[in-house]
Amino acid sequence: MNNFDVFPKKSLLFAPMEGITDEPYRIAMLKTFPEWDQFFTDFLRVPTVGKINEKMIMEHYGPRIYANESWRKKNSFQILTTPRAQTLLVTEILESMKMHHLDLNLGCPSKKVNSHLGGAYLLSDHKALRTVLQTIRNNFTGRFTVKMRIGYRDDINFSDTLKLIQDEGVEAITLHARTRDQLYKGVADWNYIAKAVSEVKIPLIGNGDIWIVEDIEKIFQETKCHSVMFGRSALKTPWLAKLYKEYIDEGGHIDETFLLFERKKYLDQYFDALLVEYREIGWADNLILKRFKSFSRNLFDDYENFETIRGNFLRSESLAEFQNRLAVLK
Ligand SMILES: Cc1cc2nc3c(=O)[nH]c(=O)nc-3n(C[C@H](O)[C@H](O)[C@H](O)COP(=O)(O)O)c2cc1C
Repeated sequence: MNNFDVFPKKSLLFAPMEGITDEPYRIAMLKTFPEWDQFFTDFLRVPTVGKINEKMIMEHYGPRIYANESWRKKNSFQILTTPRAQTLLVTEILESMKMHHLDLNLGCPSKKVNSHLGGAYLLSDHKALRTVLQTIRNNFTGRFTVKMRIGYRDDINFSDTLKLIQDEGVEAITLHARTRDQLYKGVADWNYIAKAVSEVKIPLIGNGDIWIVEDIEKIFQETKCHSVMFGRSALKTPWLAKLYKEYIDEGGHIDETFLLFERKKYLDQYFDALLVEYREIGWADNLILKRFKSFSRNLFDDYENFETIRGNFLRSESLAEFQNRLAVLK
């Protein structure tokens, strides 16, 4: 541990997302949109009794990323654990691998995960939370952060949870500004991000409903958060970090016509890069098509006839058909 912040100020972080941010996806993004400052694995569920070893951890992180020093710096490892799971063993393996950053998931709302006392459940059980935090902090010398929601059922523990996390030596907190029970309902309430910033001394990373460049400016101004993280919005506009950095370079100006003109170029780059990486790991076309369709659900919203466009992509019967549709899109 040292005195530097975990990330440079105003970092733009690509959120951990199960079923999306696997190694090929992260490599495609690292190569194509390097303006994102940090990426995360989705959560590795620490088993209670099942086997876990370095090979499995490496598989989850991605051996190609691990072997590349500069990619490694930009890729963090997330775990999801419970007081009964093998947290110590996993932490020791991550330590022996010299993993530079470990992020603990305290936000997962899944009923199954929560019934096993993991994810967002830990926000409601401070004794268990403290045990988990201490196990990690006492055995991991790299950067240790948590990603949390504002509470489990409600916000009653919010300030106490923040204090507990800070007191146990966590180096930054990402806050998805909703309770577990809110799931994804309504709009994330950034007032909680501002409140957290005023209550902790460690960097606070704002997360939840940061959709467009103007939102990034707004959340920095309104909450004074250290950095920001993007989930669904990064899937909707995978080049959003690039747009924000261009906006800053242009002195806070956005040319809307230019944005519409450029989006097809970025869409092509996105799918081209993903295709290369999925082929690299030997995926068959039908598997790639399935992934491409799932990405399509988050794309095209800013096209006038987006429902038809998306519907056509989703109806593609082969990867070639999907690619032909992309080729004729303006
Ligand atoms: C498909 C999907 C998978 C997710 N998987 C994870 C995960 O593995 N770990 C985690 O901490 N959060 C996960 N999240 C939550 C996001 O990281 C993020 O906190 C949330 O979507 C709110 O940000 P947004 O409004 O920008 O989407 C996931 C979200 C989505 C949409």
